[in-house]
Amino acid sequence: MKTIIEPFRIKTVEPIRMTTVEERRELISKANYNLFSLESQDVLIDLLTDSGTGAMSTNQWAALMKGDESYAGSPSYYRFENAIKDLMPFKHVIPTHQGRAAEHILTFVVSDGHGEGKIIPNNTHFDTTRANFEDAGFDARDLVIPEGLDTALEHPFKGNMDLERLEELLAAEADNIPMVEITITNNAGGGQPVSMANIRGTKAICTKYDKPLIIDSARFAENAYFIKLREEGYQHKSVKEIVREMFSHADGMTMSAKKDTFSNMGGWLALNNDEWAEKARTRLIMTEGFPTYGGLSGRDMECIATGLEEIISEDYLQYRIRSIQYINEGLDALGIPVMKPAGGHAIFIDAKKMLSHIPPLQYPGQSLAVALYIQGGIRTAEIGTFMFGRQPDGSEKPAQMELVRLAMPRRVYTQAQADYIIEVFAELRNDIANVAGLEITWEPASLRHFTARLKPLQE
Ligand code: F0G
Repeated sequence: MKTIIEPFRIKTVEPIRMTTVEERRELISKANYNLFSLESQDVLIDLLTDSGTGAMSTNQWAALMKGDESYAGSPSYYRFENAIKDLMPFKHVIPTHQGRAAEHILTFVVSDGHGEGKIIPNNTHFDTTRANFEDAGFDARDLVIPEGLDTALEHPFKGNMDLERLEELLAAEADNIPMVEITITNNAGGGQPVSMANIRGTKAICTKYDKPLIIDSARFAENAYFIKLREEGYQHKSVKEIVREMFSHADGMTMSAKKDTFSNMGGWLALNNDEWAEKARTRLIMTEGFPTYGGLSGRDMECIATGLEEIISEDYLQYRIRSIQYINEGLDALGIPVMKPAGGHAIFIDAKKMLSHIPPLQYPGQSLAVALYIQGGIRTAEIGTFMFGRQPDGSEKPAQMELVRLAMPRRVYTQAQADYIIEVFAELRNDIANVAGLEITWEPASLRHFTARLKPLQE
């Protein structure tokens, strides 16, 4: 049987409110051409993020009722801790309200808030990771392999760290590098996976220079499934074995449980180093909560523990990866410049190619995102100069890539909705030369893409 079906059926549905092109033109103008400012009920297909937007299972909803809300020593914490240690064998597990809280605490642990003159290497920092490090004064350095920056190039592990450049950097700056990070899958670089060989290679360099390796793990299960599909020697291993091996090479992890645990909220920081863990827990009590709940309710921890059991299902992962590929192939067949191969959680469009008439500082990615909303009510996210263009010194420069991300929430949209997405692109394609660039009329001091206001350069 060739057709891969959704390995679930739907028990509860959320109605979608239909809107017209004219209504959406008005709504996006009122939102100052920033898709984060739209009300979600005005969106037909919401691909802004795959974070916190997944559908929970019957078992997860049932687990919520088991949540024990004791302030200290809740059984829900121990279930959460055991579920994590079963996959990620770290010594200390520190619950946080979401991934960025874990990043914030880790940043504090490695810098006491003072990272000036120091560097954190990563394959590619995601926006909150970068912002946390830069806020403390660090230079957040992206060292993905060059193939990872060429959207058209087929390569099985485009998220890989450039080991040569990492080694060079450590040789030159070892005293100024407190840790090395690797993001699986590489979200800002197209949801591309990192191979086991590359994780191992990164760890070997870290060991040589005595630096801890931390994994930014939001989409660990998708990464593990890609290893099973594409890396020699892993075809006969279970996803669980692959996950355990990935984390065995690391000294710690930050996690956003809003992705690969099907939970609406949650995260954690896990570490092996006792001193770091103690410092993290002290900070946790100040900013999140007591160490056996951190930023989470007992019910959230139950739900995450159940999600961790479900996410490593190979039937689910096969459907997940195939459902993204399906849209990628449909768009590719239309001649839309998609990132190849398809990533694990999202379809990425190369807006530099698709809207080549719009220069980077007029935000071709954001212009495409706005056009997709008007045309089909699809909400996407720009990952390009609008997100990353403003530099810590106040200047503005084009980002390495101009991408638009169609992030697919987990277990939420059907194949007919996928076909609709492809159809919207088919219609928009004919009119693309008329899509205008944008200018920013107001922006905040950092992370501008969330709240900045824009306007089209010609109406
Ligand atoms: N790391 C990665 C790789 C992420 O993709 C995210 C969030 C975080 C850390 C932060 O986690 O949201 O729980 O605080 N990414 C979301 C996205 C927001 O849309 O890709 P968080």
